[in-house]
Amino acid sequence: MKTDTSSQQVVLITGASSGIGKSIAEYLIQKDYMVFGTSRNPSKNTGISFPLVALDVTKKETIASAVQEVLDKTGKIDFLINNAGVGITGPIEETPDEEIKNAFETNYFGPINLIKEVLPSMRRNGGGMIINITSIAGYMGLPYRGIYSATKGALELTTEAFRMELKDFNIQMTNVAPGDFATNIAAGRYHAPVLEDSPYKEPYGNTLKLMNEHVDAGKDPQLMAKAVYKVMTTPKPNAHYKVGELLQKASIALKRILPDKVYEKMLLKHYKL
Ligand SMILES: NC(=O)c1ccc[n+]([C@@H]2O[C@H](COP(=O)([O-])OP(=O)(O)OC[C@H]3O[C@@H](n4cnc5c(N)ncnc54)[C@H](OP(=O)(O)O)[C@@H]3O)[C@@H](O)[C@H]2O)c1
Repeated sequence: MKTDTSSQQVVLITGASSGIGKSIAEYLIQKDYMVFGTSRNPSKNTGISFPLVALDVTKKETIASAVQEVLDKTGKIDFLINNAGVGITGPIEETPDEEIKNAFETNYFGPINLIKEVLPSMRRNGGGMIINITSIAGYMGLPYRGIYSATKGALELTTEAFRMELKDFNIQMTNVAPGDFATNIAAGRYHAPVLEDSPYKEPYGNTLKLMNEHVDAGKDPQLMAKAVYKVMTTPKPNAHYKVGELLQKASIALKRILPDKVYEKMLLKHYKL
């Protein structure tokens, strides 16, 4: 049955069963948006205060059915928030191909396929906004997180191109890049094992420990929810927003101004490498 959405704006947010996605969804409900979240297992996620649609971003058929389900119920999607994502760590040399591909399928091809699926309906409805949740790690190649950086950096660049291609359709697209936030991401990510006989054993083991400490000490996902809402209420948002610790945000500005080698030394020092 179709719901009357004439007065409410409809939001589809992927990966809303936990962490940042769940926080954004809950915040937007308070702001009177009609929110549809997604999960690979909606029935396993009890106690969620908004409808969860089944979606695995690595499976194109579920992308089509999830978008159709929302359109059947509401007739429109005003906002798509591409939030679902996975982490991946490890020495690149020792990271299995299938894990690299899975990271790209989830963090890059998934959002791109969702965008392709919603654009025709947004055009029909006279406009819309797409927000891609990327990462500050997507602005630089981070040691032992190179694949993750690449997936998020690729989405940042694709957004820049999309914005120019969409300029005549009243469809806005932007990236919101979080720094470290305290969520389940470290538990859910692929960690290449620290191998006993690996030449990377010590530096990778130490960096992994530091990375996990940074996520555990990360900011409250509510901060992301507020930042995303601010972007949603900006008529023509910028291409890039960053949310997190000052030092993490500053690392992007420093990359622009420092010579490459100085910047690399700074990263090595930060990760105690
Ligand atoms: N936390 C941080 O420090 C941080 C920093 C930078 C960027 N980010 C980005 O922020 C976004 C949210 O991460 P989070 O920290 O909130 O992590 P999280 O708590 O692990 O949540 C990840 C969400 O993505 C969904 N998901 C994972 N794989 C999926 C797939 N194949 N298809 C559909 N949904 C999938 C999960 O839903 P189900 O398991 O229910 O399907 C879950 O709701 C991600 O894109 C992440 O890369 C996070």
